[in-house]
Amino acid sequence: MPVFTVDQLRELGRSLLMAAGTPPAAAETVAEELAQANLVGHDSHGVMRLVQYVQMIHDGFVKPTAALEVIQHGPGYAVLDAHFSLGQVAAAKALELGLEQAQAVGTATILVRNCNHVGRLGSYGEQAARRGCLALMAVNAPGPGGVAPFGGIDRRLGTNPICMAAPRGDGAVVLDMTTSATAEGKLRVAFQKGEPIGEGLLINSCGEASINPADFYANPCGAILPLGGGMGHKGFGLAVMIDIFCGILSGSGVARTDLPRGANGVWLQLLEIERFLPRSVYDMWMDRYVAHLKDCRLQPGCAEILLPGEIEQRRRAERERDGIPIPEETLRQILETASRLGADVSFLSVEG
Ligand SMILES: NC(=O)c1ccc[n+]([C@@H]2O[C@H](COP(=O)([O-])OP(=O)(O)OC[C@H]3O[C@@H](n4cnc5c(N)ncnc54)[C@H](O)[C@@H]3O)[C@@H](O)[C@H]2O)c1
Repeated sequence: MPVFTVDQLRELGRSLLMAAGTPPAAAETVAEELAQANLVGHDSHGVMRLVQYVQMIHDGFVKPTAALEVIQHGPGYAVLDAHFSLGQVAAAKALELGLEQAQAVGTATILVRNCNHVGRLGSYGEQAARRGCLALMAVNAPGPGGVAPFGGIDRRLGTNPICMAAPRGDGAVVLDMTTSATAEGKLRVAFQKGEPIGEGLLINSCGEASINPADFYANPCGAILPLGGGMGHKGFGLAVMIDIFCGILSGSGVARTDLPRGANGVWLQLLEIERFLPRSVYDMWMDRYVAHLKDCRLQPGCAEILLPGEIEQRRRAERERDGIPIPEETLRQILETASRLGADVSFLSVEG
């Protein structure tokens, strides 16, 4: 498989997005988020998305020059309208505004309507944690989702991810997960590789269990199951609440038929630690808690207790050292898009 550095992937993103009409600063922000997602191992939210984003710009749904509008704000809260600009740009601005508000009054609640795909939520949670906040971020899909309700067959929900992040020393504990059994991007990666997926993630258009990712993209289409398998009512319940907080309260809406997949509502909640507890006391409890969790007898086959976000930290170190593999088919599609746009990708010397 071809292997690249994070700098090459960032440059690839910048080059394609600018060739598609994105202003340089916005292209830089999106390219950085995509490259960082690849670096921590979430290839489903990395440069693979460039093909989709360029197509959405071409179709006029993603508006790369649209400006973020503050609809309402007050001490500790704001409602923003992203006007379907690139989602990573809107999310970065929402985070900056939220951090300013949390520094001023201790907490911040930021809702973003009409947002596009923000990428890997964990990135924003980690950034907030590094700046002294506990963070919660969730995203809904007001338009067509890909997930069936618990007990249902048809698509009615998005994968509605949620991230919760907390500082730990110089780093962070970062839970970042879909409320569905799998992220759609992971199906897309398996589909592009021509590989089957695990059991319990997908049903076909008749509601039968499937391990073939093509069933998701077929017509009539299948659906992703809610998180939790036989306990899927819990994942479903979380997804419903995320639709209400992120979709209804932000003004993005729910159950909309006029939007393509990728339209989002966002809810960002920040709590500045020092307003609640001296940081030294927080750090003391965190150290004690982590040691308490890790010092546990292990089940057969388990080498170590890992905290949320630890896999990503390790993958980052590995890929910084060894490079980032990109599947042939993903690369082929990106290069085809680059050539169509006339984007210069001569800096991509394929190593693998
Ligand atoms: N922007 C969007 O609309 C959107 C939609 C869906 C998903 N996503 C992103 O997709 C990505 C993938 O989501 P996912 O649910 O497939 O993630 P995942 O299942 O890979 O990981 C979920 C969480 O579990 C933790 N984890 C993984 N293995 C672990 C282990 N062995 N022990 C302890 N903790 C472990 C991870 O650190 C992570 O916090 C996320 O970054 C999410 O933000 C984004």
